[in-house]
Amino acid sequence: MRKIIFIVVIIIGVLILLPIGALTFVVMTKPNVGAAPTLTITTTPALIERGRYLYHFQAACVACHTPWDTTKFSFPPIAGKEGSGGSKFGRESGVPGVIYASNITPAALSSWSDGEIYRALTAGVNKQGDALFPLMPYGHYAKLSQPDLHAIIAYMRTMPAIQNTVQKRLLAFPMNVIVRLIPAAVTPPVAAPAETDPAYGAYVTNSGACLHCHTRSNHGKVKEGSEFSGGVEFPLEDGSKVRSANLTSDMTTGIGSWTKDAFIKRFRDSMALSLNSPKAGEFNTVMPWTSYAGMSDTDLGAIFDYLKTLPAVSNKVEKFTPAMK
Ligand code: HEC
Ligand code: HEC
Repeated sequence: MRKIIFIVVIIIGVLILLPIGALTFVVMTKPNVGAAPTLTITTTPALIERGRYLYHFQAACVACHTPWDTTKFSFPPIAGKEGSGGSKFGRESGVPGVIYASNITPAALSSWSDGEIYRALTAGVNKQGDALFPLMPYGHYAKLSQPDLHAIIAYMRTMPAIQNTVQKRLLAFPMNVIVRLIPAAVTPPVAAPAETDPAYGAYVTNSGACLHCHTRSNHGKVKEGSEFSGGVEFPLEDGSKVRSANLTSDMTTGIGSWTKDAFIKRFRDSMALSLNSPKAGEFNTVMPWTSYAGMSDTDLGAIFDYLKTLPAVSNKVEKFTPAMK
């Protein structure tokens, strides 16, 4: 009998200690993406201009890292506060807890080396090497070309420093541990395809992280076969719900019947729409239309061409449900 009790105690002990040991191991050792690279960025006006374009429009850093004007259509970033952070993402954005977009103006990043910013953008860790929550789409930015990453960093250095202390994130267990396992070592840079290359559209679409909102996921993993078919639900403050559109070329439920001109015009029209202040319950959206609208016809057209090459997925999305009165 004693022997059995002894064995049971040992088994229970091991069952308790194993997870504690695993947790301690993860907390002590992860993430481990290696040291930040030493970068030499040769800043030129053209490089800064390219960085400005990526930051504001194509990669839309500004859409997340700026407080939003919640009174306006599509919640545009408030002018004059670009990059100062503080925008809050909670359960409505699929975050198990609450996180805040960081202040990424020089007021917050002046002590970071270029390599540390590069490592944050591509490997997903901060200056101290702690994991960033992957709502920050670093997996997408890891696929940007070296010149484009340098351009973004060079541009960030020229932005006005805005003092704004952002609250600390609060992730629920087990995500506060899992988040440490997601960052991957800095990947070797890719070359950007030329505008004439058929791969160019995929490059632009990736840098815009469109997939992030336009694909349903299960515990953070993209549902295979549903890429770009929309249907991700975003509850709005007033209780309304907006769902991302099906961007595949399905004729009835996607954008199969759209022309390239109509696609580009949707973005251009958003600039005027964003001056409107929808009343509670009226159509509004989290799609950062005004940021992407700064892209050139070539780049928006390239996104359209790329979307056309994807398999059509039939998924009817009801884009908006107003709050119950
Ligand atoms: C979809 C929203 C989103 C987009 C787009 C986005 N970020 Fe972030 N970013 C975040 C969030 C949220 C955090 C904070 C993550 C956390 O606390 O775990 C963050 C963190 C960072 C950090 C780390 C700062 C720190 O103090 O730890 C840097 C640097 C950064 N972002 C730069 C950029 C740049 C540059 C771009 C565009 C190329 C960009 N971000 C685009 C949401 C976003
Ligand atoms: C923050 C989440 C988010 C991101 C990022 C995002 N979208 Fe959207 N998008 C939405 C939502 C929600 C809708 C549906 C409501 C609306 O029309 O604004 C939408 C609608 C659209 C529509 C309208 C389609 C229709 O049937 O009316 C197009 C086109 C579109 N998105 C393209 C893009 C492209 C291209 C990108 C990347 C450059 C992108 N989106 C990134 C959330 C997002």
